Order: sequence, then structure tokens, then C-alpha cells
Amino acid sequence: MKNTKVLFVCLGNICRSPTAHAVFRQLAKEKNISVEVDSAGTSAHHKGAKPDPRSKQVGEDRGYDFSGLHARKVDANDYTHFDYIVAMDEDNYRNLEKNCPDEYKKKLFMFMSFSKEFDVNEVPDPYYGGAQGFKVVFDYIESASNGLLAKLVEE
Ligand code: 4NP
Repeated sequence: MKNTKVLFVCLGNICRSPTAHAVFRQLAKEKNISVEVDSAGTSAHHKGAKPDPRSKQVGEDRGYDFSGLHARKVDANDYTHFDYIVAMDEDNYRNLEKNCPDEYKKKLFMFMSFSKEFDVNEVPDPYYGGAQGFKVVFDYIESASNGLLAKLVEE
């Protein structure tokens, strides 16, 4: 099976996209689907930082491993390297679209478009909200991850 390369993108690369990174790599492993996974932010504000402790806590409660994750900004090489560049919200998508060479724009996706359970457009930014927001992020990300993995199996 081909080793599909998937990049998850949010704003800070400390809450949503590292969560997607940790969830997706683990679900892929459990399903024996070979993927290369990474995550990045449209902003460099948290460059080098580990995932937000609130994301890590909810993740570890659900059995996910957050080790080895550090924030970085999306860079020009990402558009050539990855097969799927997956945005968490409309702002992230617009930022990617602005910077992506035309020939690679077909690689850009909204993550929630892969969810079969939730009819929503975005994974909402949990950063300034309460603990419940981080759980919603996980529910959405687990669902969209399963949807994207199902698509990769079909390819
Ligand atoms: P993320 O969440 O984009 O899911 O990593 C955020 C992290 C930091 C900020 C905003 C959102 N911030 O404004 O610093």
C-alpha cells in the first residue's frame, strides 16, 4: 500500500493539529494503514512548543500518545511533499490557499469534510475556551480521522 503523506494544519500547532497528528497516526497504526503524518501551524507564534497541556490531558485520557510533537510553521516545501494538506478551519484553509502554488491546490482539504458523523465545517479553536471545547475537538478529530483513513483504504 502506498505511504500517503498527510499534513494537519491549524493556527498555532499546539491544540487541534497536534491532536489530529496523534489521533491519526495511532488509528492508522491500529488499522495497519501505512501513512506519514505531520502537523504545522499557519502562525509561527508557538514555534518549538509542545502540545497544549489541555489537549494532551484529554488525549492521554483517551489513550493517545502525544510524544515527539513540537510546533512548527507551514513552509513552502510542505505543498510539494504532502499528498493531503488538511485544514482545521476556514481561516487556516484560506491561509493555505493563499500560499499554495496553483498546481498543488487540489491537495488542500477541510478536515471535517471527511467526517461521516458530524455535519460541521470546522474543528473549532478551543484555545480560549473551557475544558468541554477540548473534548469536542477530540470527538470531531476522531470522526474525521476515521473518515479520511477509510478514503485512503479505498484509493
Ligand atoms: P490551535 O489553537 O490553532 O488549535 O493550535 C490555538 C493556539 C494558540 C492560539 C490560538 C489558537 N493563540 O492565539 O496563541
